Amino acid sequence: MSNRVRLGVNIDHVATIRNARGVSYPDPARAAVVALEAGADGITAHLREDRRHISDADIDHLAAMLRERGRPLNLEMAVTSEMLEIALKHRPHAVCLVPERREERTTEGGLDVAGGHNWITPFVEKLSANGSRVSLFIGADPAQIEAASRTGAAVVELHTGAYCDAARDGDADAAATLLVGLKAGAKLAASLGLEVHAGHGIDYETVTPIAAIPEVAELNIGHFLVGEAIFIGLGPATVEMRTRIDAARAGA
Ligand code: PXP
Repeated sequence: MSNRVRLGVNIDHVATIRNARGVSYPDPARAAVVALEAGADGITAHLREDRRHISDADIDHLAAMLRERGRPLNLEMAVTSEMLEIALKHRPHAVCLVPERREERTTEGGLDVAGGHNWITPFVEKLSANGSRVSLFIGADPAQIEAASRTGAAVVELHTGAYCDAARDGDADAAATLLVGLKAGAKLAASLGLEVHAGHGIDYETVTPIAAIPEVAELNIGHFLVGEAIFIGLGPATVEMRTRIDAARAGA
């Protein structure tokens, strides 16, 4: 296993800023180019059912741009027939299946693969057969990880949101417990042959313990980087995140 952790930069919230005004800027595809040039390995975008940030046209544009550059697009989407059709048409390098409720501000919990196994598995099969690498966004719960493995998905993305919130809130005990769970989840997933990704809520501080988990192969980070872009620019923020990931992996 390569020791390098891939960094996927999620550019959804560039679209959030654009949509606040209903104009054509800032352009998420331009942000994607900046992130790639600064050391991102790929670009992640979540086409939500309500299109609150990324639009269908953004996905068309990003997919074409990334294909031309030979860089991966990781399309996050809900498990719906509408999204399946879009993903089958674009055949992105990766598809991450996420739970989605319209009223939530962001993806608040992981997918219930254990409970929804029968309807999630056909999505995994169709997307995989179409050439996309399928990832399931789940909590680090052994029952969910085992269920994910039974769907035939190649990847699980472990939800780091609760850990990152606890760490940022200064709740050291909760953060420590949640980190132990993430480490155990990553180990279990890898033992079942799943590639392990992690994401949600990661910032410059929380990236270090997460990137140090040896089984983690990829991190997907968005909101914090777009926030930092206001102060230092998306390129320098991506470089800083990349540097911290590499240092965590080197044990620095
Ligand atoms: N991974 C998944 C599956 C997500 O849904 C999100 C949020 O869209 C992220 C990673 C990135 O989270 P954040 O924007 O908090 O860094």
